[in-house]
Amino acid sequence: MIVCVCQNVSDRAIRAAVDAGASTLAEIRAQLNVGNCCGKCNAFAKTLVRAHIEDKAIKAVEVRREIVAA
Ligand code: FES
Repeated sequence: MIVCVCQNVSDRAIRAAVDAGASTLAEIRAQLNVGNCCGKCNAFAKTLVRAHIEDKAIKAVEVRREIVAA
């Protein structure tokens, strides 16, 4: 899905940037130019970054629990 129409940035690209180490919208913006034109995508892009970071944290906790339980 395209998140930023102005810069043609997808949710997949934003998630990949987070997976590569970005943790803020400013860092994502520096890499992908998301939100650098009209700015209408900024709120959703920020929500997407936070949600993906939370998902990664939850998965890390689940893996840790599995390791501890093993
Ligand atoms: S939709 Fe992202 S800057 Fe316009």
